[in-house]
Amino acid sequence: MEIGIDKIGFYTPHQYVDMNNLAVARNVEPEKFTIGIGQEEMALAPITQDSVTLAANAALQIISEEDKKAIDFVIFGTESGIDHSKSGAVYVHKLLGLKPQARAIEVKQACYGATAAIQMAKGHVALHPESKVLVLGSDIARYGLNTSGEATQGAGAVALLIGANPGILALENEDVYLTNDIMDFWRPIYSEQAFVDGKFSNEQYILFFQKVWEQYKEKTGLQLADFEAICYHLPYTKMGLKALRTVIDEAEEQDKERLLENYKTSTQYNRRVGNIYTGSLYLSFLSLIEQQERLKAGSRIGFFSYGSGAVGEFFTGVLQPNYQAHLNTEQHAKLFSSREELSVEQYEEIFSNTLPTDGSTIELDVKQDPAPICLAGITDNKRQYINKLD
Ligand code: COA
Repeated sequence: MEIGIDKIGFYTPHQYVDMNNLAVARNVEPEKFTIGIGQEEMALAPITQDSVTLAANAALQIISEEDKKAIDFVIFGTESGIDHSKSGAVYVHKLLGLKPQARAIEVKQACYGATAAIQMAKGHVALHPESKVLVLGSDIARYGLNTSGEATQGAGAVALLIGANPGILALENEDVYLTNDIMDFWRPIYSEQAFVDGKFSNEQYILFFQKVWEQYKEKTGLQLADFEAICYHLPYTKMGLKALRTVIDEAEEQDKERLLENYKTSTQYNRRVGNIYTGSLYLSFLSLIEQQERLKAGSRIGFFSYGSGAVGEFFTGVLQPNYQAHLNTEQHAKLFSSREELSVEQYEEIFSNTLPTDGSTIELDVKQDPAPICLAGITDNKRQYINKLD
């Protein structure tokens, strides 16, 4: 029985900053951001979007009434969760109107969370082939104004429906993984912003990739030539390229060309959204399959997942016949084209406007936010969510 990705939903907030303008405001050459880091636009979450609403908006696109009957497990991967105790999955479960006979949990290991969720979902479906699992990767990446990580912020979510006989991608079973306790990126529970040792994080990302790739080749005997494309976790789009370049000379010229071209295609959406932590790898995969028309069913795609701290994994999947019929390419084009550009001043103001942390009540203006699912306020220390479609 094949198990894998049946559908993919994606959501990013309705506003963004142009990286050229941010560079000018920060007294940096624009090419540093657009070429050196590889980001063109950076999505910014309004105060009415948090990791729960982003995830619910991403899932809303793909969940049919039939799926609602089959989903008995919701796994929410995030590193910008809204509660230390209650999982974001329970809120999303309610906002989507899923059946009560389901498990709902949150998992955490930096940007690796959604990958852990997918592997858990695969095991669940192997035991219960009639089940579907909703995997969510949702985050708001915040490093702070005027920090070196500022250009690598972003906001958005990816929702993946995992099931038997999947429409898009069948997961293969030979995966390799690695854990090592390092401090390259972390966010203590008292801090709204992440701490990052950027250069060390880059080095470790590449080292983890090289190690899992070596392990994978040894275990399977497969080579770069066996891959149509490799998708990477993308904290910024140059990062995956740095890792790919360290192994690309293992390939013959035509394989090199294909892998580099497909890498470029796999970064198109990420270049316009920024870092979405847990969802970044899957946004990259979505970009590849929605924007590269030359892909063929039966092609093998590699996935490198990296979550600082750190856990890395390399796993693979095979594109399914007629996978294109399961995509929402037009809807995603509309999502991008309907976004509103912010000036740097507007971005700074919205970024600095945060929710109260002292237990006070707040009511938010959800009319300013075109998203169907929004955070409407906080009362009695409880977040109040609305689904405008209900
Ligand atoms: N034109 C083209 N490229 C330029 C340039 C210009 N005018 N000016 C600088 N660059 C290049 C640099 O050469 C460098 O490229 P390289 O890394 O390939 O050598 C790149 O732009 C970035 O410059 P750098 O000086 O290293 O930037 P920085 O000190 O501001 O830090 C990050 C960049 C990415 C390290 C920083 O933004 C960061 O820490 N981000 C968070 C990383 C992260 O998310 N890690 C955790 C998860 S993996």
